[in-house]
Amino acid sequence: MRTYFITLKTQLKLSKMPEPKPFERLPQSIQPKHYDITLQPNLTKCIFKGWQTIDLEVKEPTAKVQLNTLDLTLSEVKLTLESGETITPLSTDISVPNETVSFTFDQTLPKGPAQLSMNFEGELNDKMKGFYRSNYTSVSGEERYTAVTQFEATDARRCFPCWDEPAHKATFNITLIVPKDRVALSNMPEVSSKPYEGDETLQVVKFAKSPLMSTYLVAVVVGEYDYVEDTSSDGVKVRVYTPVGKSDQGSFALEVATKVLPYYKDYFQIAYPLPKIDLIAIADFSVGAMENWGLVTYRETCLLVDPHNTSASQKQWIALVVGHELAHQWFGNLVTMEWWTHLWLNEGYASFVEFLCVDHLFPEYDIWTQFVTDTYICALGLDSLKNSHPIEVPVGHPSEVDEIFDDISYSKGASVIRMLHQYLGDKDFRLGMHNYLTQHSYANTFTEDLWAALGKASKKPVGKVMRTWTKQTGFPMITVASHQDGDNRVLTLTQQRFLADGSSGDSSQWMVPLSFSTSKDPSKTVMELILDAESTHVTLDGVTPGIWVKVNPGTIGYYRTRYPPELLEQFIPAIRSKTLPPLDRLGLLDDLFAMVQAGHTSTVEVLKLLEAFMDEDNYTVWSEIHHCIAKLNQLISNTDYHPLFAAFVRRLFSKIGDKLGWEAKAGESHLHTLLRELVLTQRGLYGDKEVVEEAKRRLDRHISGAATLPADLRSPVYKTVVALNDHKTYDQMVKLYRAADLHEEKDRISRSLGATKDPNLIQRVLEFAMSDDVRNQDTVFVIISVAMTCPGRSAAWAFFKAHHQQLVDRYEGGYLIARLVKYITENFASEEMATEVESFFSEKQIPGTDRTSQQSLETIRLNTAWLKRDKEAIKKYLQTCAEKSN
Ligand code: BES
Ligand code: ZN
Repeated sequence: MRTYFITLKTQLKLSKMPEPKPFERLPQSIQPKHYDITLQPNLTKCIFKGWQTIDLEVKEPTAKVQLNTLDLTLSEVKLTLESGETITPLSTDISVPNETVSFTFDQTLPKGPAQLSMNFEGELNDKMKGFYRSNYTSVSGEERYTAVTQFEATDARRCFPCWDEPAHKATFNITLIVPKDRVALSNMPEVSSKPYEGDETLQVVKFAKSPLMSTYLVAVVVGEYDYVEDTSSDGVKVRVYTPVGKSDQGSFALEVATKVLPYYKDYFQIAYPLPKIDLIAIADFSVGAMENWGLVTYRETCLLVDPHNTSASQKQWIALVVGHELAHQWFGNLVTMEWWTHLWLNEGYASFVEFLCVDHLFPEYDIWTQFVTDTYICALGLDSLKNSHPIEVPVGHPSEVDEIFDDISYSKGASVIRMLHQYLGDKDFRLGMHNYLTQHSYANTFTEDLWAALGKASKKPVGKVMRTWTKQTGFPMITVASHQDGDNRVLTLTQQRFLADGSSGDSSQWMVPLSFSTSKDPSKTVMELILDAESTHVTLDGVTPGIWVKVNPGTIGYYRTRYPPELLEQFIPAIRSKTLPPLDRLGLLDDLFAMVQAGHTSTVEVLKLLEAFMDEDNYTVWSEIHHCIAKLNQLISNTDYHPLFAAFVRRLFSKIGDKLGWEAKAGESHLHTLLRELVLTQRGLYGDKEVVEEAKRRLDRHISGAATLPADLRSPVYKTVVALNDHKTYDQMVKLYRAADLHEEKDRISRSLGATKDPNLIQRVLEFAMSDDVRNQDTVFVIISVAMTCPGRSAAWAFFKAHHQQLVDRYEGGYLIARLVKYITENFASEEMATEVESFFSEKQIPGTDRTSQQSLETIRLNTAWLKRDKEAIKKYLQTCAEKSN
């Protein structure tokens, strides 16, 4: 028997991950069955009180009850036995590092039911986790707070003591005591609302009992909101809650949500099990959106559409986010991963299904093509690092869990599911999914359970194939050799792990679904097989000399292809003439780009290939070109010949730019609109004179009120003009920021500010990012925008070093700080900076950034080697280009 798994020892040798923190899961001796929770938030003092009774099942006799809690003060702890006897704990041990409390009783609790009750108090914190406060300005102009929850992954314990692990499913009865004039929401519909005895300003709102569910999906919101409402064709009451006076901005999401529910019902052949679903925009929110069962919370920018001020790209993003969170209502909420090691089952799957649903609702978005640039190539990028991790990743302590909400769990997860979907076909895939969701409803699963269901439905060796993708880190590079045998073509295909440093890595092997297309009919797949050995020969009949053969049509297989130069050259005419389909054009480019990064071939080869895209007109292919250009720009910004590169980029984008112009044509397609935004941004940032002049003119007219910029043109205009380093423009932009009401507009402006290269302005942007003008949820993105230019990068890094403690205190770990660390460090390109970043992170322990800082460090060293290798050759090539065009 073959074994596909490299030993743990080899993986540890390759990566430099620190030792995992000591961690133990809660004992299995006691299971929670039902929580009856009352919460009373105080929206002015920003504190809350709560009390709860938890019905337990003692599975093994024990004198100790251990559960999770964090930052709460507990009192009145009591345990009632089945006999009716009530006892109090002999001792209470709180462990802050383990985020637990243990109650020890003076008697062994017998097997069977028991009830644990307690009171608790805490702060409505400003960290966007647990039960927290979000501020807004009321219609009357007063500063007020909303109380809102964000529990995933491990923060329900900050709101009420609980068995805060996904496998401890229970039912919940939630009661809220809140001011009468506030909207109070939870997962389930309200069943009663009564005046609160003793204080007529308060009301007691009770919600229906929830289904069996994990703690991380519990949610409550108390605040002032308006809503729009509809009922989906399958009878679910859908509401979109918006800030007061802005209910119109919920219409788009409402339409998407009401259509998505019946679509998923049909797709999974399982109805959404709750009577209602609310989607609500929260002004301070750490991530993009959260799938709480029946009460999905969103950042404002991920939910609200203002027809005059929302760009086409943002609208598309909102459709994807709504599709994603609603997919979780089945995949995640109904069926939940047993432990965070299987987080990808939630996130990878939802990241795949969101595209299915948007493709169904908006075929004109051609969203599956965009999947490849948005998702697939991001995954391959991170996964070519030695410090990547397998999809199924051992994690324990909460700080480790936070860090795996990354491109592996999401994007690699989605990419391997897309590959599997193709391998099984839609019919068997759907049947397998239906069986999986039915069999495990209201329960928990391991990755293996999914393979079992899909294997049974398709009668294919799903587990055997898929384990090679989810248990091993990385992916293969398929090297192609080819020779002619009469009228037939014989290909030799060999697999080896692809590593970004070009080394051969380890002995990992995958079971690789291979497929091919030829120039006879580039849109047709001519053969499919599974490569289950290191190498194989494939004979394609009737492929005569002069016909090209492409591996991986549609860029679906999660691997890279390496062609010898003479085979690669054959594709150039097909790229120029666009007879090669878009996904194949961009796949070829991205694979070549990765080979260049890894040093398998020279950067000059990519620059040459890019010129074949001069007549390109597909948005997603341009988005891929932009991806390559952006990476090269980061690298070349460290040299003295950046102006030559800028000229190269301006030429590359000139033809398509002239074709698209500035004005949207009447009735033009969504993708044209996206393309114009992309192309104008590039032309502006690389200093195309005409674009710069026009951008200045348009911004002036926008500011003076003579002609409002259409939403799709704002980002290109803002960035282009800010990049001119003018202090007056900068002040105008900050003024626009302060005046903007729509959060999307604020984001657009604040993320453009980083385009400046003036040292004084850079400092001002960094300070602005930390100021009261910018919400904590947005600070990191403003700093990141600064780090995208060469002078900004050093300044952002210096700023981070000086303010790291403040940032750590602001976020207390979590997702945002990990993003920040990634983007401000990974574009350096010298050993000196690598050493500096390395010593900084080994001296200062920044929670939740261990994995990310190791990945960044590896990337810096890759950049360093790349620049050293190709610096001179790139310069020479760019000089020749410049001479030719003069
Ligand atoms: N379950 C996540 C939210 C989440 C992310 C919780 C990270 C804790 C840590 C949610 O389903 C999600 O994936 N949200 C994405 C948006 C999505 C469209 C990719 C997000 O917030 O970025
Ligand atoms: Zn998700």
